[in-house]
Order: sequence, then structure tokens, then C-alpha cells
Amino acid sequence: MRQLKLSTVIEEDIEQLAKSLNAHKKHFEGKTFLITGAGGFLGKYIVLLLRYFNENVLSKKIRAILLDNFVTGYEQIIADDNLIFIRHNVIEPFEIDEPIDYIIHAAGIASPVYYTKYPVETMDVGTVGTRNMLELARMKDVESFVFMSSSEVYGDPDNAHVPTKETYNGNVSVSGPRACYDESKRFGETMSVTYWRVYNVPVKLIRPFNVYGPGIRPDDYRVLPNFIEHALRKEPLPVHGDGRNTRAFCYINDAIEQIFKILFCDVNGEAFNIGNPEREISVHELGELVAKTMPFKVDVVNIDPPHAVYASSDPKRRCPDISKLQSVIDFKPKYPLEVGLKRTIQWFSEQ
Ligand SMILES: NC(=O)c1ccc[n+]([C@@H]2O[C@H](COP(=O)([O-])OP(=O)(O)OC[C@H]3O[C@@H](n4cnc5c(N)ncnc54)[C@H](O)[C@@H]3O)[C@@H](O)[C@H]2O)c1
Repeated sequence: MRQLKLSTVIEEDIEQLAKSLNAHKKHFEGKTFLITGAGGFLGKYIVLLLRYFNENVLSKKIRAILLDNFVTGYEQIIADDNLIFIRHNVIEPFEIDEPIDYIIHAAGIASPVYYTKYPVETMDVGTVGTRNMLELARMKDVESFVFMSSSEVYGDPDNAHVPTKETYNGNVSVSGPRACYDESKRFGETMSVTYWRVYNVPVKLIRPFNVYGPGIRPDDYRVLPNFIEHALRKEPLPVHGDGRNTRAFCYINDAIEQIFKILFCDVNGEAFNIGNPEREISVHELGELVAKTMPFKVDVVNIDPPHAVYASSDPKRRCPDISKLQSVIDFKPKYPLEVGLKRTIQWFSEQ
């Protein structure tokens, strides 16, 4: 396995994140974390942050057990004596002798193009995989467990429910092209909350809204990497359909800060939106913004959606209400879209 090559943008991000989380130092000191999906987009930042804490901040080092089967993750890793990477498919139970303090279950198949390609694996990781991780959390009597669910549990909300609060029950198709992902996250949440009610496993459900940033796979096909990839090849940016659907994008550092602060809070059995509600933007406007940020001219074009996941079932609006989260933790988004976009484009250009 290859060690991950770092970039200045990512190094700055990790340093900044460590500052934002410095008040929580005691929660990191000498603890053992288990991270699933550690080779993925969010997983990689989490692992880099743990390594940064070990190298620069803590006197008692963190241990981390890092699981991934690399179905979509890059097999390039960050590992040392304290950060142990294990190739493991979480739909199989995982056993280990040492104690575990925190679990972040981030394994999943999040990109619509990939979950269309691997629908059964997508259902399994959200359901069987989540059950296995909850069982491990119960056996190890962990201090806290985060299940990385998704804002897709809300399906296609009507205008009255945007910005969307956690109390909205969702408008989700049980059998549409997105169901393998959406419904497995919904059932994953049901299982997590049941483990809290029945076994007192201190679970938190996190529902991210459109996280982006450096480190996302250039061939991930989610809208921003797709636009940036086209722009760097000086090809027109492809907007699916009329581009009127909206999203609110959250830079990865803002997302990781929210994840750790929720992990360390003492509110259990609850769901929290994470994201940046400051700007709900249409996909067409986003294309224009990416084009404007490039140092050369690129066009934005409308194309027929290439997949059913985009054609018939793409949610019309996505924007989080994060007031519940802000009533529990100290958090304000630090990265406006223009700033995060510049950093992401810089990272893509370096690759
Ligand atoms: N990034 C976002 O905007 C976003 C939005 C909503 C939800 N989420 C959720 O957050 C989590 C992390 O997202 P991400 O963007 O880093 O996704 P990602 O696809 O980049 O990473 C997920 C990782 O999980 C691994 N994985 C998948 N199935 C596995 C299995 N059975 N066993 C072990 N590893 C497995 C993949 O190989 C990959 O490395 C996912 O669960 C995703 O569904 C992310």
C-alpha cells in the first residue's frame, strides 16, 4: 500500500482543524478510535487529523484502527505504529482484543454513480455493516458512536421543509433508483437509535449535506468534482437537465469540525444535520461560479442526465437547518463557498 502524498492545501486544513478542536484535546489524549471507511474522502481527513494530533499536540498518543475494503476508497494510506490500517469489509463482523473508546462508522457508498454500480453492497454497508459496528460498540462499551447517515434520508422535501430540520420525516421512494442508498441510511439510523434505547450504546446520527473539498476522488462524479475535472480539462461543465435544482455545499473542514464536536457531546440517540446553510445555490449557478474561479475561460452546458438517479429522482432542493446542532455544540461555518472552492480547485490542479 502506498503512503498518502500530502498537499499544502490539505496540510493547512489539518492544522486549522486541529486549532478548531484544540479545546477538545482531552477527548483525544490516549484514546483509541475505530474509523470505518477510513480510506474515503472524509475518512482520510479524519485520519490525517489524528496523525497531526499525535505528532504535534498530544503527550499520550491516539491509537486508531482504520477499516476499509477500498470498494471506492483509494488504496493509499496513512499509517504508522499507532494508526493501523486493516483491509476489512464491515459486512463481516470485526473482532479485536484491544479496548475502543470511539467509533466513527463512515463506510458507505455515497456517490450516486457508484451506488448505482454497487446497489447490493450499498444496502449491506448501511445495514449489516452498521449492525456489526453497533455490536462492536456494545461489546467495547464505547464512550461514543457516530453513524454517518445522510441528508438523503429526507429524500425530496417540499419547499415548506427547506431549510430542512431533523424533525422532517422525509419524502423517500422505497424502490426508486436512490432507494438502495437512502433506505439503507434510514434503516441504519433506526438500528442505531434502537441500540441506544435497548443497550444504551451512546449513538449519534449525523446527516451531512453535500460536503466537498480537497481529497475527494476526481472520478467520484458528485457535482463539484465533476465540474472541476471538466474545467481543468478545459471542457464545458455539464449541468444535468435545466440545473435549477439547488444544494448548499459544506467545505470539508467545517464538516469534520462538526463531526468531532458531535462525537464528543453528551446528547445520545439523536440525529444532527451537518452542513453550511449560508448559501443555497442552483447547480447552474454553481457551474457558473466554478467557471468564474478558473484562470481561463470555460463554458457551462446543459446535458441530458446520464443516469436515472439524476433524471427522475434528483432531489429539487437541499439546504440544512443546523440550529439543533448549534444548540448543542459551538460551531459556525468558517469557509464560504468561494473560499472552499478556490482551495478545492488548487488541490485538483496539484494532482
Ligand atoms: N461526502 C458527503 O457529502 C456525504 C453526504 C452524505 C453522507 N455521507 C456519508 O458519510 C460517509 C463518508 O462519506 P465520504 O464522502 O467520505 O464517502 P467515500 O465514498 O469517499 O468513502 C467511503 C469509504 O467507505 C468504504 N467502504 C464502502 N463500503 C465498505 C465496506 N463494506 N467495508 C469497508 N469499507 C467500505 C469505501 O471504500 C470508501 O473508502 C459515507 O457513509 C457517506 O454515505 C457523505
